[in-house]
Amino acid sequence: MPIEKSELRRVMGHFATGVSIITTVDKDGKPAGLTANALTSVSLTPPLLLICVDKKAESYHCFDESKVFTVNLLTADQEGLSRKFAVSGGEKFEGVSFSRGANGAPILNGVLTFMECKVVGVYDGGDHTIYLGEIEEASTSEGEPLLFYRGGYRSFAP
Ligand SMILES: Cc1cc2nc3c(=O)[nH]c(=O)nc-3n(C[C@H](O)[C@H](O)[C@H](O)COP(=O)(O)O)c2cc1C
Repeated sequence: MPIEKSELRRVMGHFATGVSIITTVDKDGKPAGLTANALTSVSLTPPLLLICVDKKAESYHCFDESKVFTVNLLTADQEGLSRKFAVSGGEKFEGVSFSRGANGAPILNGVLTFMECKVVGVYDGGDHTIYLGEIEEASTSEGEPLLFYRGGYRSFAP
């Protein structure tokens, strides 16, 4: 018997992660993005990472069409941004400060790290699609990471 959806969510919730906002652009160059923690480092040479995007997400088609994305890793004080980008649809970028990277996807101001990627592989992952991205640009800043564990936002104990 396959594990039930809610039980899988509960069990996988024991895997503590950081939190990212993955950004891309639609066909007119308009910013798109969503909160994501299904993110894994894959290879050092070449530099590869993967993300998993829900096929039912409003922004799904943008990832599929643009073939670029940027991973923005959030700081502990960016929980509000994470919540905003975890709500489907709407004008997520309204009131959000960002610049455009070389790939055209938004780099959110004040993030811990950003990694600009071009899609080099697309794989079926059940109700998600797995995008393998080659990292073309990356940068880090000082700060504490936003964490996600057992369904809730966390930060390192002081
Ligand atoms: C902590 C956290 C992690 C998430 N990780 C993912 C993820 O890796 N992939 C994904 O497709 N959705 C993920 N989601 C859900 C999306 O952020 C959510 O469905 C969002 O509303 C999609 O936006 P859209 O429908 O406007 O594209 C996550 C949500 C939270 C709160």
